[in-house]
Amino acid sequence: MSLIDVRVAEIIEESAQVKSLRLVRVDGEPLGVYEAGAHVDVVGPTAITRQYSLCSRPEDPDSYTVAVKCEPHSRGGSEALHALQVGDVIQISSPRNLLQIVPEAKHHVLMAAGIGITPMLSIARYLDVHDGDFDLHYFARSSEEAAFLGLLQEKCPQKLHPHLGTPLEEHDALLREALADLPEDTHLYMCGPEPFMDMVMHVALEYVDEERVHKENFRPAEQETTGEDSAFDVELEGETFHVPADRTIVEVLREGGADVDTSCQEGICGTCIMEVLEGDVDHRDSVLTKSEKESGELITVCVSRCTSPLLRLDYY
Ligand code: FES
Repeated sequence: MSLIDVRVAEIIEESAQVKSLRLVRVDGEPLGVYEAGAHVDVVGPTAITRQYSLCSRPEDPDSYTVAVKCEPHSRGGSEALHALQVGDVIQISSPRNLLQIVPEAKHHVLMAAGIGITPMLSIARYLDVHDGDFDLHYFARSSEEAAFLGLLQEKCPQKLHPHLGTPLEEHDALLREALADLPEDTHLYMCGPEPFMDMVMHVALEYVDEERVHKENFRPAEQETTGEDSAFDVELEGETFHVPADRTIVEVLREGGADVDTSCQEGICGTCIMEVLEGDVDHRDSVLTKSEKESGELITVCVSRCTSPLLRLDYY
């Protein structure tokens, strides 16, 4: 994965726990526009790589902004990112988008909780500027903890529905109210902690077809596996690699000299997706959509496996 050296141009305290970092290229070139909903890999001072959604204006080519919530007990390096000063240099990847706006949708419902607001911010900003029809539901414990609330209240007050400090037991009714009576071709986008996304998904499926629900994961979802892992062969560009039961595809491919990019290694970022030419995939990621998994044409090689003896792959 090629990385870009970027300098911290501005730091803003968006809430008690969240700082935004505006990043510009060290070489002075523009970073380029990005698609709303996209994220980048960030390699901070601790050399740990984590994915952060871009939350600047998607059409601003000069800088990218990421928002980092300080998680003191995690090993993700957020404390080190919080300690950065203006002028410090870190590295980022090019943007990747797993939460694309569906352009033909008649209406968009955005559901965010906590720091899950970050991808929704770029989507809301894009839809707002391009006259997209949307509602943004933002769940947070309080206005003090709701990063970017002021910006959203200023830019799209009619579209914003803040739910601040709403007791958990009221969420179900609130979600039903938000999701009932939507135009037929509505798409739902969500991001937040796993229990929040599970709850939204549970309610949403009563109102919206699953194919119209799009989510950004913070952590890998629990996977149902097909039982015991077994060994299989992988064929890539005419070479055959043997994957034992206790090794991942990506480990074996890299060891054999194949050039496969990875980032999260947990099945949540999509960096390692490859094309499947032949073979039965046992999907174990939280990135591919249900229809992508059912098509059997793509695989995340960091976590997924194969249940047939041979898996033929190509770069994606
Ligand atoms: S490296 Fe992130 S999904 Fe495989």
